[in-house]
Amino acid sequence: MGSLFDGIAAFFRAVLPGRVILWLRGDHSSVRGRWIQKPLEDLNLCLSRLRGVSYLEWYARRLDDFTTVESPERREKFRKYMEDGREQFNVIKALGVQPHHAFHEFGMGMGRVAGFLVTYLTSGSFSGNDASGGRIRKGLDYLKQEKGIETDKLLAIVNKDNSFDWLKGRKADYIWCFAIFMHMPERDIEDVMKNVRKIMHDKTVFFFTYSEKNPNRLVDRMGSHDWWHSTNYFRNLADRYGFDMELHTETLRKNMAYNEATRLAAFTLKPAAAR
Ligand SMILES: C[S@@+](CC[C@H](N)C(=O)[O-])C[C@H]1O[C@@H](n2cnc3c(N)ncnc32)[C@H](O)[C@@H]1O
Repeated sequence: MGSLFDGIAAFFRAVLPGRVILWLRGDHSSVRGRWIQKPLEDLNLCLSRLRGVSYLEWYARRLDDFTTVESPERREKFRKYMEDGREQFNVIKALGVQPHHAFHEFGMGMGRVAGFLVTYLTSGSFSGNDASGGRIRKGLDYLKQEKGIETDKLLAIVNKDNSFDWLKGRKADYIWCFAIFMHMPERDIEDVMKNVRKIMHDKTVFFFTYSEKNPNRLVDRMGSHDWWHSTNYFRNLADRYGFDMELHTETLRKNMAYNEATRLAAFTLKPAAAR
């Protein structure tokens, strides 16, 4: 099927002028992504929702499936992806995380940041959660076997809801949520904003990224599992759920390969009187 689509795409690239291709692509990363993959995934999500599967379960299953595909190219890409965790680690240190802090990563994925943090947090602790058990397993196996990292020292949880109850009352000094909200529907983001305080104390800082392509629109849905949000969207959430919000995009820009649309923000709980 893939090679048939490759052939069709090559044909159209050869016969159509570049500006028509750009027009067909619109704000998406490829023409094929917009007109073939997106509708197929939308349909798949719609059918799953009709069968009673939650968005998060659907999304996690989709990611679990990717972890089972193996090829030399994919292995090399995976190794590079894991190494790229160092950049996030540099941002995290620049934001003030020190070895004695308790750190929680919401959406830890393959643990590419956990691998660096678990050795850095000498008297602190690392915990993380992810909806995809397959991604956590694959990443932690790699860290243990290829890098000799003591992954038993970290707490990794597979979650299928945004309740934060799975942390059983454990509190964090810092919460890190990198490249997650752009894959979450609004209802799920609201659940996070409602529940994240269960793992926060008065001084906890909750850092998260989002993609802002159009500051004049609160939310744009780009595909079944891709969204853009504006800064105002998060400011509204901060007001509604009792947080102060600060932007830290400059720290991101200085410490890692930076995508123009990415923003880094922090929520802290408003003083008790304002809550
Ligand atoms: C783009 S990856 C980023 C992973 C990690 N933060 C990193 O930078 O390596 C997005 C991850 O978020 C996870 N995810 C998305 N929504 C989630 C949710 N509501 N709860 C837990 N994990 C979630 C996905 O399973 C996936 O592993």
